[in-house]
Amino acid sequence: MQRIVIAIDGYSGCGKSSTAKAVAKILNYTYIDSGAMYRAATLHFLNNHVTLTNPKDVERNLENLQISFHVNPESGQQETFLNGINVEDEIRSMKVSEYVSEVSKIKEVRTALVAQQQHLGRKKGVVMDGRDISTVVFPQAELKIFMNADLKIRAERRQKELLEKGTLIELDKIIQNLSERDKMDSSREESPLIKAEDAKEIDTSRMDFNEQVNQIVKLAKEKI
Ligand code: C5P
Repeated sequence: MQRIVIAIDGYSGCGKSSTAKAVAKILNYTYIDSGAMYRAATLHFLNNHVTLTNPKDVERNLENLQISFHVNPESGQQETFLNGINVEDEIRSMKVSEYVSEVSKIKEVRTALVAQQQHLGRKKGVVMDGRDISTVVFPQAELKIFMNADLKIRAERRQKELLEKGTLIELDKIIQNLSERDKMDSSREESPLIKAEDAKEIDTSRMDFNEQVNQIVKLAKEKI
């Protein structure tokens, strides 16, 4: 059976990661959360007080940035490590969410992370989600999906997710963060979020989770 690359792009908080993860599990593929990589880079920059407008500072800090993914043997969940430290929870904080789109518009950051993403996906059999996976990271991906959902529904889902981790954030604050990130991610010069011409668009506003997963698995099986 042919192993393919499944690229999933879309707006913030529309369920790309959880869907991609479930699709990967069903197909026995590797899941790669490219957003987690931008979030880990952001945390690293915040920890080291990097001046984003200073290219030398940015490059120096990219040189000592190491991001890896490891499966937690207890939960079976994939977790993100920054220079050997588990930062899975920290990278989902509002503070990182507020800075990540500033960091991810920097050309040098994108060049470094895109190279890592391409390396991680070189053997195929991967599901990767993000903003530029279908257009820049894997423009030859066999299956491209563009996910979207109503802003309020996305914010409610994100609020529930954060609450499950023990943090209550006001809905308005989440709506503001999601819409600001969408705006910045779609309008930036470097690899803006756009739907690839050959991507299949899926609006998940009125879909339940299993429906969206099954739809992508079905499309993948047509390509395998
Ligand atoms: O997917 P997630 O919402 O965790 O991504 C966080 C941020 O990382 C996005 O808002 C975007 O600024 C950036 N990102 C990106 N390109 C990707 C994945 C994420 O610019 N491929």
